[in-house]
Amino acid sequence: MSGFVVVGSQWGDEGKGKIVDLLTERADIVARYGGGPNAGHTICVGDRRFALHHIPSGILRENVLCVIGNGVVIDPGSLLKEIGDLRGAGVRVEENLRISDRAHLILPYHRGCDIVREEGVKDGKIGTTRLGVGPTYESKAGRYGLRVADLANRAGLEEKVRALARLTRSASGDRLPSEWDPSPGEVAATYLEYGARLTPFLTDTSLLLNERLDRGSVVLCEGAQGTMLDLDHGTYPYVTSSSSTAGGACTGLGISPIRLEGVIGVLKAYSTRVGEGPFPTEQDNDSGRRIRERGREFGSTTGRPRRCGWFDALVARYSVMINQIECLALTLFDVLDAFDEIPICVAYEHQGRRLDVLPADPAVLKACRPVWEVLPGWKADTSVARRFEDLPEAARHYVRRLEQTVGCEVGIISTSPQRDGTIIRPQGRIARWLPVRREERLA
Ligand code: IMO
Ligand code: MG
Repeated sequence: MSGFVVVGSQWGDEGKGKIVDLLTERADIVARYGGGPNAGHTICVGDRRFALHHIPSGILRENVLCVIGNGVVIDPGSLLKEIGDLRGAGVRVEENLRISDRAHLILPYHRGCDIVREEGVKDGKIGTTRLGVGPTYESKAGRYGLRVADLANRAGLEEKVRALARLTRSASGDRLPSEWDPSPGEVAATYLEYGARLTPFLTDTSLLLNERLDRGSVVLCEGAQGTMLDLDHGTYPYVTSSSSTAGGACTGLGISPIRLEGVIGVLKAYSTRVGEGPFPTEQDNDSGRRIRERGREFGSTTGRPRRCGWFDALVARYSVMINQIECLALTLFDVLDAFDEIPICVAYEHQGRRLDVLPADPAVLKACRPVWEVLPGWKADTSVARRFEDLPEAARHYVRRLEQTVGCEVGIISTSPQRDGTIIRPQGRIARWLPVRREERLA
């Protein structure tokens, strides 16, 4: 029983990459369980910045095995590029990366379908990353998807691609742009070559994970996206097409819920969202622009400016419940260093009534007005703090107030993108869960 899940608690981009990279010091394996190239996890080591899309954020640690699980959808061309870039930077990818042979593949038709749908509608646009992620999960659920294991079947591949192309064309209303509609023969040939290059990494990752867990390994299950983007629990239909909540770790990796010991939620000290959909605490004004500038809130996958706003305790409470989060990692804390006052949303008001839980209907959520509690700012540089006690009193008050309104402890506070810009509270759950560094445990 040494599986831990790291899950996004808002709309993605919470800084999961940094937290996973940090906790990896105390883990043996990091396993991605969902999403695909729509994820963008940025990690800073020294003055080097790495933007990862498919590959788990543990890859920068030398002795950690990284797994891309069956629940992930893979764009093999872009994954191979990511592998090449890391290799070029001297990272040990060959030794440390394993990919599930049950993972589904993104094909050009999927990307074309995603693009056409987004461009074809006036209202009801989702604001997807246009990387074909949604249509690929549709093929999976529709049982005509292509999996990594299919790339070993030279004789049957073209026929499978042909069937998939036909159904995806029809899902796009037969409007696939020609550049995303290559002949199935061409796609089969390209994908066979991708398959050959990926072969050294492929394995039955569920078997691998279960065997390693049996032997006492610590496995960090890395979530992509966030709770509010989960297909079931997020702000549907403005969500991604996979299970980004903690439950997705079991289906996306092939490990039992009984294996999981705890869930760590990553939470920004404010809120952001990319793409369309309701966002009650959004600040489409000077405050929002200042947050965007200070937090460098531009998508690492698409470069889009992120929508920015204040902290929403309803979103956080909901995430804590859905994922049973028992420890929060509060990130991008230093972004708030410059503000005189910092509002947090403690409830919503809808048509004169107070709401304390998130409504299911996006139209209702859109019409909700935040009930604010305004906290004093601290106007000091927190990026130098190494212990909770080093923070200014108003900053400590902000953290405590968040803990009270959300009902969950904050065990980690990240005060800069760097590894050392981090406070780990020694009395927190996280210190009890992952007490020993890997090297010490193995020595
Ligand atoms: P990480 O892992 C932020 C959003 C898109 C869009 C919606 C659906 O970096 O936190 P999709 O392409 O998945 O069909 O788009 O989901 N989205 C993300 N937003 N961070 C992510 O990942 C996201 N992955 C998808 O912007 O609104
Ligand atoms: Mg992102």
